[in-house]
Amino acid sequence: MEPIIEVSQVTKVYGSEKDEQTHALRGIDFTIQRGEFVGIMGASGSGKSTLLNILSTLDKPSTGEVIINHNDVTKLAGNALADFRGKEIGFIFQDFNLLENLTAAENIAIPLSLQGVKPRIIRQKIKEVAARLSITEILNKYPAAISGGQKQRVASARALITQPTILFGDEPTGALDSKSARDLLDMMADLNQNDQVSIMLVTHDPLSASYCKRILFIKDGVIHEEIQRGDQTQDDFHRRILGILGNLEQ
Ligand SMILES: Nc1ncnc2c1ncn2[C@@H]1O[C@H](COP(=O)(O)OP(=O)(O)O)[C@@H](O)[C@H]1O
Ligand SMILES: [Mg+2]
Repeated sequence: MEPIIEVSQVTKVYGSEKDEQTHALRGIDFTIQRGEFVGIMGASGSGKSTLLNILSTLDKPSTGEVIINHNDVTKLAGNALADFRGKEIGFIFQDFNLLENLTAAENIAIPLSLQGVKPRIIRQKIKEVAARLSITEILNKYPAAISGGQKQRVASARALITQPTILFGDEPTGALDSKSARDLLDMMADLNQNDQVSIMLVTHDPLSASYCKRILFIKDGVIHEEIQRGDQTQDDFHRRILGILGNLEQ
């Protein structure tokens, strides 16, 4: 086993001492191994997005350490941080974050263009990732001309084209209809299973979480509970998640 994310004693406090402060994270510790598919669940306001933003280097913790692929990302800044993020981190958001005036292919190309990769190689990589995510037919379309599910596939292709160490998703199915949501989750499970893509998925939806192999439950800024799917069926795991969420609310 090879750890790719090691989180120790991470806290996050929003607001200065003069203002009212929010202790969003109060001491988070866990390790993610390469090839894992881990869910993060918890009530609204429990600190899920805060944690994911810190892990994906979009934000810094107040205290604590985050090691990704042997780099302490809390110590990175400026170009080194941008470079690290571009190469090691893939992120898909609830609202897709596609640029409307670029085609799907141009959107997918962005991370490699920023790294100065040659156009011929970029074209080849787009072809590969598009085939993998079944979006070859829509590569020349603009975001306004494709469905929500297709937009999220394009965003996933953009996240995966650099072959990141880990793919993060913050409620990536939140804006999708249930069929598109299931398609996206199937795709993520398939990437995890067959391409060994490591994934961390923040979701408040028990059905989405049932696609994960391990789930961390956050409550009041700490990890309250952790479960493994093991050899449970997805249905049984789903029921187990529902049971835990019921208890968490009390
Ligand atoms: N930029 C911010 N400034 C101040 N407080 C914030 C900020 N972002 C989040 N919070 C607060 O931190 C807590 C955790 O928020 P968040 O991580 O977004 O939770 P979740 O994603 O689980 O809903 C909440 O109380 C929220 O109001
Ligand atoms: Mg959130």
